[in-house]
Amino acid sequence: MPPNTEDTKVDDELSRITLEELDLKKLVRERGFYGVHPDVYYPPLEPFEHKDPGHLADPTKAALLNAATKVIDVTPNIGTEIHGIQLSQLSEQQKNDLALLVAERGVVFFRSQDLTAKQALEFGRHFGPLHVHNVGPHPPNAPEILTIQVDHENPKVRERYALRSAGDGWHNDISYELQPAGLTFLKIDTLPKVGGDTLWASAYTAYDRLSPAWQKFVEGLEAVHSGDVHRETARITGYPLRREAPDNVHPIVRTHPLTGWKSLYVQRGFTRRIVGFTKRESDAVLEFLFNHIESGHDFQVRFRWQEDSIAVWDNRATYHTAINDYFGNGIRHGFRVTPTAERPYFDPNSKSRQQVLDEKASVAKKD
Ligand code: SIN
Repeated sequence: MPPNTEDTKVDDELSRITLEELDLKKLVRERGFYGVHPDVYYPPLEPFEHKDPGHLADPTKAALLNAATKVIDVTPNIGTEIHGIQLSQLSEQQKNDLALLVAERGVVFFRSQDLTAKQALEFGRHFGPLHVHNVGPHPPNAPEILTIQVDHENPKVRERYALRSAGDGWHNDISYELQPAGLTFLKIDTLPKVGGDTLWASAYTAYDRLSPAWQKFVEGLEAVHSGDVHRETARITGYPLRREAPDNVHPIVRTHPLTGWKSLYVQRGFTRRIVGFTKRESDAVLEFLFNHIESGHDFQVRFRWQEDSIAVWDNRATYHTAINDYFGNGIRHGFRVTPTAERPYFDPNSKSRQQVLDEKASVAKKD
């Protein structure tokens, strides 16, 4: 479906807005759905050596945590909310500490943030090369920002969502890339009166909550993650596929480079089959693992956004899904910045989060 003439005219106007001038909250309120889908083609992503800034963190994360007025763990297994900090003002050390905190807690929430689109790009680059989405909408002149807004007034979009179950949305961002996302953040600046929350689940605890027999069974297996959903989106909407959305093979249990903890790296969104298994074997095992994650309420956190909240999560340690319960009740809009990280790997000597916590507890008991 090529964009109609009216879309093209609006795109011309939008394309004159510079990055410095970009005020996405204003733009969405003035124009509604503004995301552009330019007809350009990007070459495949090049491999790179990821230097995670979390390696430079202070293990106590003092520079970050001492600057906060309140630090609240939202659940035992995942999610921390921090008050009294503007992400736009963080020092280099505080950003490094944030990388480690997010790796440990999975997702960290901040309220009333003033971070602009331009600042978000600079902030994001601290954590890794920014991913440019292959089909999703972006603001004019800012391809490294992904506009987060479901165009639910569009009947085709509405129809697609009507055919999905809520649990179908669980994913780690862009896991089909060879070097998928690490730390990632989303600012939501426009909300309906009610609804539009997001759920995250801990991929560390998803591993820990498997029985020892299943942990042993899945360790060392590999699965294919596919960009098929994005290829399909391009086909259905007619928007250009700006770069190939590839298929890549990743370990089912991966080791986080900062915490050293094992996490379960599969999800319904992009994981398609287990390497070397028959289709029936693969479907049965993956369906069990997807259900295990989606029904693991003891390792999930649900975040109720306020306008200008930011969530910062680690895609190596969590999965997430947006809750699309607000269609017809107003606009939900935000923007995501997606730094990429290392190629997923499994270190057979790595430990699980629970194992490390148990070891610490037993040392503390002896002291
Ligand atoms: C995302 O999947 O990255 C966006 C999540 C959301 O819209 O809450």
